[in-house]
Amino acid sequence: TENGRPQSDLAGKRIVITAGGTREPLDPVRFLGNRSSGKQGVALAESAAARGATVILIAANLEVPAPTTVQLLLVSSALDLERAVTETAADADAVIMAAAVADYRPATVRADKIKKDDTGDSLVLELTRNPDILAGLAAGKKPGQVLIGFAAETETDPDLLLALGRAKLARKGCDFLVVNRVGWSEGFASDRNEVRVLDSAGDIVCEASGTKMSVAQRILDLIA
Ligand code: CTP
Ligand code: CA
Repeated sequence: TENGRPQSDLAGKRIVITAGGTREPLDPVRFLGNRSSGKQGVALAESAAARGATVILIAANLEVPAPTTVQLLLVSSALDLERAVTETAADADAVIMAAAVADYRPATVRADKIKKDDTGDSLVLELTRNPDILAGLAAGKKPGQVLIGFAAETETDPDLLLALGRAKLARKGCDFLVVNRVGWSEGFASDRNEVRVLDSAGDIVCEASGTKMSVAQRILDLIA
C-alpha cells in the first residue's frame, strides 16, 4: 500500500470490536445513554477487515452505518453487550472495547411509562452498577489474546490525563489502553481523534492524531 503496510497483515485473525454507546432502559419509551457515535469503533472494524481479519462488530446504537465487510451483532444495553462479547471473545485473537459502556443502569425497568402525575416536581432514579466488561475479559483472557481498552477522560492537563490512563490500565488489566480526551466538542461525534496508547507497563507505545480511520490503522499496527 501507499504507506508500505501490507494489505493482509491481519489475515486469519479473528477480531471482536465493540462500538457505540449503550442505552439503559428506564421504561418502555426511555433510556439513559451517552454521546458515543461509534465512529472510532466502526473505523477500527472497517480497517481490520480491509487488512484481512475476520471481524465481529458488536454494535450498540451506532450513529454511523456499519461496514458491510464485518459480522454484525446488534446490542443495546451494557448487559446485552456483555453477553455478546463474552460469547465471541472465547475464540478471538484480539478484543477491542471501543464502546462507551454505561457504568450504571436503572435499578428497575418499569413495565409502564413513568407518568408526571405519579412523580411530582422531582424524580429520583436509583441506579445499579453495571459489570466491568473489560476487567472481566482481562480476567478470563486466553494466552496470546490481545485485549485493548479505551479511556475517555475530560481531564485537560496532558500529564494528569496520562496519569488517569495509567491508573485505569492498572485497574483493568488489559494489554493496551487507548487514552483520549472527550468533552462537549471533542471525542465522541468528531471525525478526528487524538490518542496516546499505553502498554501494560504504562509506557506510551503510540501517539496518533488525525482522522478516526488513520488512528484506527495505528491501533491495528499494535495488534499486527
Ligand atoms: N468498560 C467496560 N465495562 C464497563 C465500563 C467500561 O468494559 N462497565 C470499558 C470501556 O469499553 C472502555 C474501558 O472500559 O474500553 C474504559 O471505560 P471508561 O468509562 O473510560 O472507564 P471506567 O472504568 O468506567 O472508569 P470511569 O468511567 O469511572 O472513568
Ligand atoms: Ca465509565
